[in-house]
Amino acid sequence: MLIEIEKKGQTHIFEAAPEEKLLFAGLRAGISLPYECSTGTCGSCRARLKEGNLEIGWPDAPGHKNLKAEKNEFLMCQATAKTSCKLGVPSKIEPFRDDDLTPLHHQASISNLSMLSSDIMRFEVNLDSLISFHAGQFFVLKAPGIDGYRAYSMVNYEVSTNTLEFIIKQKQYGSFTDWISSSDRVTNEIEIFGPLGKATFHPDENHDLVMIAGGSGIAGLMSIMEHGCKVNYFDSHKASLYFGIRTWDDMIFVERLNSMVKRFPNNLSVQMVASQESSDSRPPESIGKLSHGYGWVHEVALNSLTLGQENTMVYIAGPQPLVDATIRPLITEIQLASGMIRYDSFS
Ligand SMILES: Cc1cc2nc3c(=O)[nH]c(=O)nc-3n(C[C@H](O)[C@H](O)[C@H](O)COP(=O)(O)OP(=O)(O)OC[C@H]3O[C@@H](n4cnc5c(N)ncnc54)[C@H](O)[C@@H]3O)c2cc1C
Ligand code: FES
Repeated sequence: MLIEIEKKGQTHIFEAAPEEKLLFAGLRAGISLPYECSTGTCGSCRARLKEGNLEIGWPDAPGHKNLKAEKNEFLMCQATAKTSCKLGVPSKIEPFRDDDLTPLHHQASISNLSMLSSDIMRFEVNLDSLISFHAGQFFVLKAPGIDGYRAYSMVNYEVSTNTLEFIIKQKQYGSFTDWISSSDRVTNEIEIFGPLGKATFHPDENHDLVMIAGGSGIAGLMSIMEHGCKVNYFDSHKASLYFGIRTWDDMIFVERLNSMVKRFPNNLSVQMVASQESSDSRPPESIGKLSHGYGWVHEVALNSLTLGQENTMVYIAGPQPLVDATIRPLITEIQLASGMIRYDSFS
């Protein structure tokens, strides 16, 4: 099916395969359509149907709530084309960065599942060919028998690899959570699409980094830390990671983070911030060289920031309330430019 988008006097045309989400078809063709979550929750991939017929995959998607029915608006990450279509896209179609990577569909398998804490599982996704991604990006995964895709941020970083490392926080009654936890998944083939996401790390930008993770939000920030270590970025740039957990039992990646901090003791710091520990409780010895704090991770991180840190890029990843509660004070109180904030909201 041919999809045509008219925007500011420019016509973008791409082919969408049957059953392929229009967002993925457009991105795969190199058109930088607007999106954030790519899984139906944020509403950023809004478009208007001018001609043709669509099928809407998930009518109850939270991202539908601000769509204008009278303008035939729909979410490109949920829609597939039944005929060739003409669309309008209200948001900007931003040009890609020179080093942006084109996302593609792949078949993959799952291996090496293990529990890192009582509710965080680690797993790997293996591909037949090598791929590249930027630290901080994510893939969407489609499991057999489960409606829709789920987004997971890569934990690892390699210039090119055929293994993607992920963590998943166990969600009660979550479909993908149940699927991956319920039996031996290593025999299954899954479909994945990516790399996606704009909360990326690029060493040539030469920023100091502040990274704020809530729970499984640590995934993409681990990838940024891995990349930074591989290129000795923290020899010459300051970086602080604030990792929000509920109790000390939720600490994960402690050994990996310790070896990073030991390599770059002058410029790299990691603080575990526990929201449900009282201030007289002490973390276990295994915390090693990592520091610790109490309360909400974004409040602890924001307290460490001062006005006028123009060269600091702030990364935020995790539950939507954490991301929302961090962005506003960063802009209004710390007076950080919005271009210096990159985030992934795990809504
Ligand atoms: C950019 C991004 C990165 C993320 N990275 C991570 C990560 O690294 N680790 C982690 O644990 N979590 C991550 N998440 C959250 C993750 O994608 C899932 O929402 C979470 O694992 C729960 O999935 P579930 O299937 O178990 O729960 P469910 O409640 O079954 O599903 C949750 C999500 O799946 C989608 N969905 C649900 N039903 C449908 C349907 N019928 N059709 C289509 N879509 C549907 C929606 O996006 C919904 O919010 C990320 C989310 C985003 C947006
Ligand atoms: S990108 Fe489609 S709803 Fe978020």
